[in-house]
Amino acid sequence: MTDALSPPLAILLELTHRCPLRCAYCSNPLALTPAADELSTADWCAILDQAAAQGMLQVHFSGGEPMARADLPQLVAHASRLGLYSNLITSGVLLNEAKLAVLVEAGLNHVQLSFQGLDEAGAEALSGFKGGVAKKQAALACVQAADLALTLNFVITRQNADQLDAMLSYAEQHGIARVEVANTQYYGWGLQNRAALIPSEAQLDAMSTLVAAWRERVKGRMVIDYVIPDYYARRPKACMGGWAQRFLNVMPDGTLLPCHAAQTLTHLDFPRFPASTLAEAWFESPAFAAYRGTAWMPEPCSGCDNKEKDWGGCRCQALALAGNASTLDPVCEHSPQHQQVVTMARREAQLGDVPLQLRRFSFAVEGD
Ligand code: FES
Repeated sequence: MTDALSPPLAILLELTHRCPLRCAYCSNPLALTPAADELSTADWCAILDQAAAQGMLQVHFSGGEPMARADLPQLVAHASRLGLYSNLITSGVLLNEAKLAVLVEAGLNHVQLSFQGLDEAGAEALSGFKGGVAKKQAALACVQAADLALTLNFVITRQNADQLDAMLSYAEQHGIARVEVANTQYYGWGLQNRAALIPSEAQLDAMSTLVAAWRERVKGRMVIDYVIPDYYARRPKACMGGWAQRFLNVMPDGTLLPCHAAQTLTHLDFPRFPASTLAEAWFESPAFAAYRGTAWMPEPCSGCDNKEKDWGGCRCQALALAGNASTLDPVCEHSPQHQQVVTMARREAQLGDVPLQLRRFSFAVEGD
């Protein structure tokens, strides 16, 4: 497969793990990268150079909260000079008119703004951040005033699933063209809180019906991306569009990964920038090759008609739920663990009010 392998379409730069929010569903690792181990501005610029030279088209600035890095405008400007389409994935709570103006001037193309819901108390319970909704709404107004391309991202959990109609109404009232209804995926810290967060099947059915009705009503005006909570699915998702097929992730310390959770696969030795170039990681690293394509697949995946659609699902989830990254994703109905997973999800969803464990760290914004 290596001969025909294309470079990644996009690169996701996790500039920092620092974040003013302490979300219970955070998918970042349990052990976060300390600020002292983050790559320098020059390193990130060199990574952008390599991404552009490899033919990548998009860069996603992510975290943590990427706005916690004082050099974000420099990095956006560098990406822009290289012709990369840049997307800022942000909670919005550090964004204001002046900071956005600098980013727009630097050439930022798109903002993905996340909400944990629209009521302050509920959002604070999920994120540990007081007054976040008002700040996000102010950030939204700035982004719209700047006429930047925008996606609103609503993170869905058991706590706010019943507010989806209000969230979509809010998006419609604000003339949002693209909304992502992002059911929490359970990785990293979020996995620890799964029993508190997972929605019930009844909530899922109601959300699916609602989204179908909304899609019909807002056709041509608003696109709604909607992925059902994995654990109730019968077929796995094509995680990251297939392992090491489209995306390259860079952790704050330069570790190069095919997905944001791959560092949990401790049997693989992931390369790290600058010791490895992006091209060496992508084209030559055994860790990137490990689950790429279909050659690695066990039965019945290797004989499945969907194998080049779902690419065997999610390797990180197979490890988290079945204890083996090389086996079937237990979300698939053909997995021997599938029924166990559905039963576990149903049981946890009925637990009601389970206390949320928020992330624990102190936070400082550079340059403030
Ligand atoms: Fe790693 Fe799905 S998150 S393969």
